[in-house]
Amino acid sequence: MIALIAIAAVAGLSAFTAVGVKDQTYVASPEFSANAEASSENVVVYYSRSGHSEAVAREVAKRLKAPISRIDADYPLSFGGQTKAIADAEAKAFPLINVESLDLRPAKRVYLVSPTWMFRPAPPLWTFVRQSDLSGKDVVLIMTGNSRFKQEEIDKFSHLINSRGGHLIHQEFIRRGRVYWQMSRGELLDTVNSSMNELAPQH
Ligand SMILES: Cc1cc2nc3c(=O)[nH]c(=O)nc-3n(C[C@H](O)[C@H](O)[C@H](O)COP(=O)(O)O)c2cc1C
Repeated sequence: MIALIAIAAVAGLSAFTAVGVKDQTYVASPEFSANAEASSENVVVYYSRSGHSEAVAREVAKRLKAPISRIDADYPLSFGGQTKAIADAEAKAFPLINVESLDLRPAKRVYLVSPTWMFRPAPPLWTFVRQSDLSGKDVVLIMTGNSRFKQEEIDKFSHLINSRGGHLIHQEFIRRGRVYWQMSRGELLDTVNSSMNELAPQH
């Protein structure tokens, strides 16, 4: 019995450590930037701490040939950064952000891509929406996560979008899977492409 408890404790601890390490590992993806003739009716805006939402955002932008803009926020890839991320998500904070130059005015549809933190879009996205004029724009929310989100949190996010004049027309949650059972990068991008196939493009 004691041996079983010890094995379970070691397994639990190593899974916990693996989660911590994975959450602190940035996984790079090829950059995409729209060329001068690209239509700006669609725009992609994303926040990503460890690179997975970034890969998704770049795939969406590449597919739509859309301008893409990164949100920066202060959540370093360290245990300290992770603790702050959890605290801010739980406190429903609006952290300071820096958004890569972006002209939202011509956009009819805005794709927001974010990791899921404490069952909701990561706080930098909330700040972005709160400080943006989304008048008349459709918004598509794509979240990546390991396990799950809460619909009531998305509903609150949708209300915030409404308060800025926009309209959430579609939400997508890409479950990457937990520690040892995560999607490969290929599987992640295949999932993005199938979701995009189901969503009528903005012309
Ligand atoms: C602080 C923190 C909280 C998280 N909370 C959740 C959660 O509630 N639900 C979930 O499915 N994944 C959760 N995750 C996992 C991330 O959403 C997932 O790894 C995501 O794909 C990371 O995206 P990124 O690489 O773009 O930062 C959390 C990760 C962190 C760092």
